[in-house]
Amino acid sequence: MFDFRIEATDKPSLYRELTRAAEALTGGEPDPIANMANLAALIWETLPDLNWAGFYRNVDGELVLGPFQGRPACIRIPFGKGVCGAAAQTRQPQRVADVNAFPGHIACDSASRSELVVPIVAGGRLVGVLDLDSPTPGRFDAEDEAGCVKLIQAVSFRLAGMASAIAES
Ligand code: SME
Repeated sequence: MFDFRIEATDKPSLYRELTRAAEALTGGEPDPIANMANLAALIWETLPDLNWAGFYRNVDGELVLGPFQGRPACIRIPFGKGVCGAAAQTRQPQRVADVNAFPGHIACDSASRSELVVPIVAGGRLVGVLDLDSPTPGRFDAEDEAGCVKLIQAVSFRLAGMASAIAES
C-alpha cells in the first residue's frame, strides 16, 4: 500500500514533498504507463482545485491520451493544436490563466477554466506532456509551474521507459 501524507502549507514545500513521493512511487518500476497512472493519481490527490490531471504521450509525432484522473477526454491532439499541442511543439511549459482566451484551446471538459501543461523530455526525446486543468481561472501561478517542471524532470526517464538510465546517471 502506498500512503503518502503530504501536508505542506506553502507551495515550494508542497512540490518538494510531491516530487519526493513521485520518486518513491516510480522508483524501481520500468513501465512508463504504470508510472504515469500512479503519478496521475498522486497529483490528483495532492494538488487542490483540479478537474483533470494526466498525461498525453507522444506516439509517432501525435499526442495520444495516456493515464489520467477526471472526465473522459479527447484522445488524439496534433502537435501545435491547443494548449497540449503548443507545449509539445515548443517543448515549453504552457500556463494559461483563461483557457477561453487561448486560441485553439481544446475543450475536453467544459468545467476547465485554467490549465498548466508541462512537456516531458528524456534523453532529448519528447515523451509527452503532463496536463493539469482547473475549474478556477488563474489557478496556476509561477510556483505551480516551477514545481511541476521540477517534478517532471525528476521522473522523466521513468515516464519514458528509460528507468535504467536513472540508475546509471
Ligand atoms: N485542453 C487541452 C486538451 C486536453 S484536456 O484539457 C484534458 C488542450 O487545449 O490542449
